[in-house]
Parts: sequence; C-alpha cells; structure tokens
Amino acid sequence: MARPRLIAAASAGLAACALVFQLGLGAQAPDIEQHINALIARMTLDEKFGQLQQLDGHADGRNREEHFDLVRKGLLGSTLNVRGAENVNALQKAALEESRLKIPVVFAFDVIHGYRTVFPIPLGETASWDPEAAERAAAIAAAESRAAGLQWTFAPMVDIARDARWGRIAEGAGEDPWLGSVFAAARVRGFQGTNMAAPDRIAATAKHWVAYGAAEGGRDYAATDMSEHALRSIYFPPFKAAVDAGVATFMSAFNDLNGVPTSSNPFTLTTVLREEWKWDGLVVSDYKSVVETINHGLARDEADAARQALPAGVDMEMISRTYVTHGPALVKAGEIPVPVVDEAVRRALRLKYRVGLFDRPYADPALEPATLLKPEFRAAARDIAARSMVLLEHDGRTLPIKEGNRRIALVGPFGDNRDEMMGNWTGDGRREDVVTLKEGLEAALPGAQVTVARGADLDVKMLWPGGAGDAAGAAALRDEAVAAAREADLVVLTLGESGAMSGEAASRTSLDLPPFQRELAEAIFALKKPTAVVLFTGRPLALGWLKAAAPAMLLAWFPGTEAGHAVADVLTGRVNPQGKLPVTFPRHVGQVPIYYSHKATGRPPAADDKYTSKYIDAEWTPLYPFGYGLSYTTFELSDLRVSAASIPSTGSVTVSATVRNAGAVKGTEVVQFYVRDVAASVTRPVQELRGFTRVTLEPGESRRVEFTAGPKELGFLDRDLKWRVEPGEFRVRVSQSSEGGLTGAFEVR
Ligand code: NOJ
Repeated sequence: MARPRLIAAASAGLAACALVFQLGLGAQAPDIEQHINALIARMTLDEKFGQLQQLDGHADGRNREEHFDLVRKGLLGSTLNVRGAENVNALQKAALEESRLKIPVVFAFDVIHGYRTVFPIPLGETASWDPEAAERAAAIAAAESRAAGLQWTFAPMVDIARDARWGRIAEGAGEDPWLGSVFAAARVRGFQGTNMAAPDRIAATAKHWVAYGAAEGGRDYAATDMSEHALRSIYFPPFKAAVDAGVATFMSAFNDLNGVPTSSNPFTLTTVLREEWKWDGLVVSDYKSVVETINHGLARDEADAARQALPAGVDMEMISRTYVTHGPALVKAGEIPVPVVDEAVRRALRLKYRVGLFDRPYADPALEPATLLKPEFRAAARDIAARSMVLLEHDGRTLPIKEGNRRIALVGPFGDNRDEMMGNWTGDGRREDVVTLKEGLEAALPGAQVTVARGADLDVKMLWPGGAGDAAGAAALRDEAVAAAREADLVVLTLGESGAMSGEAASRTSLDLPPFQRELAEAIFALKKPTAVVLFTGRPLALGWLKAAAPAMLLAWFPGTEAGHAVADVLTGRVNPQGKLPVTFPRHVGQVPIYYSHKATGRPPAADDKYTSKYIDAEWTPLYPFGYGLSYTTFELSDLRVSAASIPSTGSVTVSATVRNAGAVKGTEVVQFYVRDVAASVTRPVQELRGFTRVTLEPGESRRVEFTAGPKELGFLDRDLKWRVEPGEFRVRVSQSSEGGLTGAFEVR
C-alpha cells in the first residue's frame, strides 16, 4: 500500500516527498508508522504542538494572513473553513515550500449534509430509513469537498437526541441507537469509501463524543449526568459503529459529563476509545472546548486546561491555543510527558497520511468547477430528498395532486423561499442553486396556475417574547393568503420553522409553530378547500391541533438544493412517500424527553388508574410515534412466524411475516422489527428496534420479510456492564411503526 504512495510522491517532485528520502526510509516496506516516527524525531517541541493546532479561516473560505506566518514556522497543522482549490493551495504552498519540515496542512470543514449540492438535513435523511441513500449523499459530499481542496469533514454527528428542544437534533439520526448506528456507519462509508486518500473521498468525524445530545433541559452546551450503563447502552453505540466502519477522527464535545467535561475526560477519551476500542484515529476538540474547561470549573487557567486535556486524550485543539501557548513549557516542567505529546502528533500525522496528503498535497483547480453540482449529484439530491419525506396525514383525497387541480394557491412562508430550503449547516450551498417549491410545482404541473401568498413572516427573532412584531401586518399577510386560497382548486399550505430555528445554539422551550402560522392555517382550513400542508422543520414539533385539522400533511424537513422538485415529486405522486419518523413527535413540549424505547415503570400508564405514570393535563402517548409514516397505498402484515419456540443463549431465531401492498399504487414500506426482553437482571426498555427492511411492492404484490434475533439483537449490558443474553421470555413485533403490527414470542433457555 505504501509503496505506490512513495512512488507517486516522488514523481510529483514535491518537497514533502523529498523528506521521505532524506529520512533514508527507502522504498522497501516504507511503513507509515516508521515515517511518522522518523518525522517526530526531527520535530522541535514547538513544531509538535503546532501539529496539534487547528484554526479557522474566514467564513467565506479565505485564509487569514496570520496563518501563513504560523504555517511557515510549523505552528499550525490544520485549518477549518478554508476551502476552494486556490485558497487551499496557497496555504499548502507555504507549508511545503517555506516551513522547515514541509508537513502538509490538513483542511477541514463542516460538510454536514452536502458541500455544494445540499441534501436533506441528517435527521430528514435518516427518515428515509435507507442507509444506502445516506451513504450516497455522503459520497457525493466527499467528492465535491475533495474537489474544493478539503480532506476532512466534521461529520457525521452521531449524537442520540431524545429532546426536541435541543436544536441540534436536526443534525443527527434521531433517538434510536440501532438506527443511529446503521446511519453512522453508512455515512462514514460514504465519506471515506474504502480508501480515504482517493481523489473523491475525505476523512469523517464522529461527533460529539459524548452524550452531548442529552444536555440538561435540551439547552445547548449544558451538562449531562447519566449512569455508565445508559452511556454505554444508548450513547456509545453509534460511535462504536463509526469506529467499526473505520472512522478517521472523533470530535470531543462541549458538555460536562458526570462532572468531567468531555473535552478533558480521560474515561471517555482514553479508557474507552483507546484501551477498550483500540482505536488509533485523531481526536479534535470542539470549537474552543479545551479552553472552555475553565468556564466549566475544571481547569484553573489556560495552562491547566492544556495540562489536563492533552493527557486526557484530546489530540488536536480547535481555535483556542492553550496547547501551542503552554504545551512546550508544560513538557519542560514535566507536567505533560513527552510520549503523550508524541502520541497525539502521531495521530495527527497519521490522518495526513491516511487522506493522502503526503502524496497529493495540492488540490487540482480544474477539478473544482468540473465536480461541483454535477447533474447526477442534483438528481441524487432530488431522489434522496423525496425519500426523506414523511406523509403524516392522508385523507385519501387531497394527495397526490390530481391533474384537474388547475389553480393552486401556494400559501405560507416557504412557498417561494429560496433561503429556507437548505436548513442549517449548508456547507458551500448557494441560494441561487436552490429549486423553490413554486418552481418545483410549476415544472411538475405545467398546466396549473400557481399563485403564491407568503401568509406569514418567518424570522428567528419572532420567537423571542415580544419579537413577533406587528399584528396588523400579520393580519394583512393572512388576508392576502386567504384571498388567494379562495380562488384555488387546491391549497398547498407551507408551515414550519426557519432553518435558523434548529441547529447549533438554537434550543427552544416551545415546540409550536412560529407566531401567526397557526392563525394563518386556521383561516385557510376554515375555507374547507382541499388543503395539503407541507411542514418544514429541523425538530419534532408538537402540533396536535394541526394533526386534527389537516386533511393531508407532508413532513419535508429541510430538503436541500433540489427541495422544490423533491416536494413536488411527492405531492404529485411521482414518488410515493416512504419516509418514517426517526424520532418521536410529542403532543406537548412538557412530554420531552419522550422516546419509544423507554423503560416500563412499576406503574405503566392506565387511563382508569390515577396512580400510574402519566400526566393530569395531557395524554402520555406521542403525537406521532417513532417509525411512523404513511403512503399513498396501504400495506398489510400477516402470518408472523417465529422459527423456534426456544433457543440457547448463543442461538438465534428467524422472525418472518408477509407484507402485502393492499392499495392501488406501487409503494415502499419500511417493515420494522422490535424486541423486548421481558424480565432481565437489568430492566430492559419496553421495546428496542433490532432490524428493518425496505420493501417495494406493486399493487396486490406480497413478499415474506425475515429478521434474525441472535446474540447481537437479544443481548444487553448486565450489572457488571458485560454483554450477555439472559434466559427467559422475549417478545417480538413486526410492524409499520413502533406501535401496532404483529407480535410473537420465544424463550431463551
Ligand atoms: C461547533 C460545533 O459544535 C461542531 O459541530 C462544529 O464541527 C464546530 N463548531 C466547527 O465548526
């Protein structure tokens, strides 16, 4: 593997490769680790800490002047945000031609759901329950990123999130460790491929390590306190799946975890990652999260922050500069052992080797325009966005839009809104590339006349008490929308949050629609016209009134560049909706955290028994359960079979059922498989997802689906945190969501 790498480097004639020969390593068995060690042996302490520093360029991708100077001195190993072949090559040239050791810079960026071609937000993409789609989206994002000079993305975010108030729920795969693990692995494979040095792949980051999604009160950056059992059972699995998929890097998180901030936590960063999982990748801190250990009340000052974080296992420091500033003195004073520094540097250099920087440090400027936003990338974005949409309500009449609907009123703040289709973290996505819903509907229905009325304003400032502004202005917008709707055969009513209302630093205390949208919706529904709601959001919203009133409702999340086409594809039935919720939708914000795999309680809720686990002012059940999603057809499940009545703890059973398309159009159903361990030495959740499969069926067609339940599906961590399958009764469910379906049982003996 390393031999062609050296030859390539030599033929490129780059300064970096000359180093390999200077080091006398020759072309025989040029083991990467040997190169790294030889390089480390030549580094000064300052240069070592320089490799552990990451700083950000300008938000628009340009370099900061200071970085050239730092790179020349060997004091900067990596940047974030710098992108575009020209910008990247300019800084790289300084590293390769003007620094003593000629170590290339590694360029990182938040490519979260696409670089230039923007895909649905990750929560939405997960609603496809189609890991192959997520892998494809990540692979395209990787190809575009590489072409723009990047080698590293800070994605996927694999934090389990069960609190819809937390804005970053939009960035992950939702509430479930099993589904989250499947998508974590798929996204890592998509970004990295089998060789992250390939010209169309980049290194991925599993973030945020760890339990950041469990922040108290759903408040971003807040502390997390939980049992080690819960950590290992719920929050670790997607990270472990990323490790097993070969993820190159981890990002330590912002949150305090059980009293020790995660960006200075030896248990999570070293005991688990290095000693238990034997992982040899790089850990980068989150943005200033090392220096923030002072605010947490762990470190006394900046030197103390570095003294604790580096040995704890944070290899590279993002933005704050405690390592470069205090590291050398701390080493000289014996406060940080040299082998600890060397190991962190080794990981940083290993990443640079793995992404191929020692062979191909420069970006090819011709590749960038030829790669970005290729027609096939747009086609994939359209397809994946349509797969991500969830049909929440369907009266069987309103949707799909029929040919006869010639006059369509497109009412609400998203109808002709180029800025609000991509959601948060839009990479290098450009508004001018975006297809609006108006454009999508007009293209899909050339015979129709689409009239747009905004209906309500949409601005994140409106959420703040008193920020909603002028009620008279809102009433005028509403009246205009009602007038447009009155003239129409069909109303498409767009509602929801703006992109800025979810994502980082966008926690909410309410899960309601922004101001004036409910009034708008009620005025439209009062017309009794056929009305289809299209909901845009980065988080579950608590919309019981809307569920009761909407004849049809499609959850579109934030679909990305091809938004308008993808929504139109689903509204017109060109694509039959097939998405399923990867997260529970509550009835009320007061129910959070609400998730399908909760523990049972000694007093399960019962309507006729006051002293059971419920509320006196609201139902205990969700508005829409995990796994829920409708289709323009209907599916029926029948004939559940469990292959054995009893198995040994090392054995497995096959659980199968027939799924039939009982409707009139072709459709895709996600058949889900849940398990419950009825009595165990550590109580188990009421059910846990342990498999799913997507089945596409013609009308009247049926197929058997099969799931396996063996040690991986049936085991859990016991009181000693050891994985085991315990004897006793297991119940299984094969279903179309986490509710209903077919049930069966078997024994483990
Ligand atoms: C802070 C965010 O928490 C993290 O996810 C992101 O990668 C960094 N900023 C860099 O932008």
